[in-house]
Amino acid sequence: MIYGTDYYPEHWPEDRWPEDLRLMREASINTIRIAEFMWSVIEPSEGHFDFTLLDKIIGMASSAGMNIVLCTPTAAPPKWLMDLHPDIYQTDGSGKTRGFGSRRHYCFNSVVFKEYSRKIIKEMAVRYSGNKNVIAWQLDNEFGCHDTVRCYCHNCSTAFSKWLESKYGSIAALNEKLGMSFWGQHYPSFESVVLPADTVCDNKAAGMHAHNPGLFLDYCRFASDSVFDYAVFQINELRKYGVNVPITHNFMGSFYDLDYYKLAEPFEFISWDCYPNIAHGPFSSLSEVSYNHDKVRGYRNDKYWVMEQCSGQNGWNYMHETPRPGEIRLWAYQSVAHGADGLVYFRWRPALFGTEQYWHGILDHDGVPRQRYDEIKQTGKELEAISEIVTGSRITSDVCILNSFDNTWSHAYQKHSENFDYNRILYTIHNSITSLNINCDVRAMCPDLAAYRLVVMPAYNISSEEEASLLASYVSGGGCLAITFRSGNRDLYNKINGLVLPGYFRELCGIDVINYDAAGSSVRPVSGITGSLNANTWCDIINGKDSTVLAEYTGGFYSGTPCITVNNFGKGKVYYIGFNTDMPSYSKIFDYISEKAGVRRTPLRPVPGVETVFRTASGSDCIFVMNHNETPVIVPLDRAYTDAISKDRLGECLRLEPFGVAVIY
Ligand code: GAL
Repeated sequence: MIYGTDYYPEHWPEDRWPEDLRLMREASINTIRIAEFMWSVIEPSEGHFDFTLLDKIIGMASSAGMNIVLCTPTAAPPKWLMDLHPDIYQTDGSGKTRGFGSRRHYCFNSVVFKEYSRKIIKEMAVRYSGNKNVIAWQLDNEFGCHDTVRCYCHNCSTAFSKWLESKYGSIAALNEKLGMSFWGQHYPSFESVVLPADTVCDNKAAGMHAHNPGLFLDYCRFASDSVFDYAVFQINELRKYGVNVPITHNFMGSFYDLDYYKLAEPFEFISWDCYPNIAHGPFSSLSEVSYNHDKVRGYRNDKYWVMEQCSGQNGWNYMHETPRPGEIRLWAYQSVAHGADGLVYFRWRPALFGTEQYWHGILDHDGVPRQRYDEIKQTGKELEAISEIVTGSRITSDVCILNSFDNTWSHAYQKHSENFDYNRILYTIHNSITSLNINCDVRAMCPDLAAYRLVVMPAYNISSEEEASLLASYVSGGGCLAITFRSGNRDLYNKINGLVLPGYFRELCGIDVINYDAAGSSVRPVSGITGSLNANTWCDIINGKDSTVLAEYTGGFYSGTPCITVNNFGKGKVYYIGFNTDMPSYSKIFDYISEKAGVRRTPLRPVPGVETVFRTASGSDCIFVMNHNETPVIVPLDRAYTDAISKDRLGECLRLEPFGVAVIY
């Protein structure tokens, strides 16, 4: 297994490198990721390339038997380049240039920037493609970080016009499909179409924006495509100059401006950056991080790496809490449990200068290995010992939640009710299911749904007839589908489709939505198969027609009307959930539905704060049991197991220390 660390040789004197490499090897670290911010070191002035530092560290690391993940350094375009071509800078929605002083200050549609990227990528690829220790390349660093997917510069304006032209063919078609007769917004030509930047009606503080929603959705797709095109361009350049090892990119669990399903396609594997200790608000390191792992796995429906695995306290202007002893190990196991077969810690040693002086790594500022190093070393040894179990098994799920970026963008622009948050809804439902000890995938709509016993489709607003027929064949064949409120009401142009709701899914659900209530933060009582619970955010008022009613509202003017229904369709069933609710209430709903659908669960009884994930190898399971509590827990067992880590034979129960982990089989 890949067990690595992000390393910045440009921050440390050369005579320290051998000691760093020695300490790494002692901790089972076999891989370093380097160079993503090294452009100004490699090309200190235009066309003058200096590979002295990179040659040395690659040579030294190779001699130490290290694997190297080499990055294209385009995340930090140097000052000389920006001074020569200020046109490369991004422009924000208010028309202001996003200037120099941090990173990612380039526009993805700058032709000039592409040319300079091409030159440095060529130099690096030619020089290092033959190096057998360079086992993978990473493109750039976290495309889209710092809100940089959407740019409003003149390069983007020109590129957007072309993008629209190739989509619509004629300006008349654009005006018609997007509904430009509203407020007389007809555009006379593609060149005249504006980027949806701030208008007189926009008021960020009040969350108001006024552009045509269809144009906005197209702009989101275009901006995401611009990043995709730039990524493909970099991959092609690397391949052209001899790189024949896998190419990856580090995604982020919490970024929503990029269509990651599309972006994942051209890579051999994807990775993501996982920082559980900056999970915040109602999200915890257990629930938010577990959701992000499942989501990222779904981007390619495959194994992945964590390219930046948290290794200490962190923050930019102030620090977040120090990971408690055992937590770094727990988070590493959590990654592996959910499907990571490469773990690279961020970072080896915290910088003594620059923006991220507070962002801790495996060592401390003084370079001394202490508790975090010991914990990571212990984890490395353990993972080596159980590597067969990990590499020989894969996570299998009976449940899949359908996720969509078109919906992310559409819901965010016009969010239905005051506190409507699409990703929060998906996260809450995911968590309600996994807290029942059920493995759960999160994927885009796909033709291979038959592998799942239960497909959950929350708030699938933007939808098409094709998607409805794909779901119809899944359900007819015996599948179980759960659809929620705010599904099926918009077409692919982000226009309300004018159908009786839930639109294309109406026949599947066997109901009509006859009215609705944007409840916001008010609550509406519900009662039925799941006992009593409270609806919030949104309540559909339903005519249940021939479906079976499973729950009703019990208060307010629509008291007595259905809010959860089930309809037989072919050999399968379709549930409709007409309201949003909290995590424990969703858990009751999905406890019922998943039981009916015959969904597999871990055979262990759920214990609060204890996460279980099962991985399957030729028919038999191993179960990762992870205690996210600060206190010890006792997990009752259904039979005797062996813990692969401690090698203990376990009887009736498993005791886990605070943040303790077991892998049982
Ligand atoms: C990541 C980023 C790293 C580093 C880290 C800490 O998102 O990829 O380069 O900045 O955060 O801030």
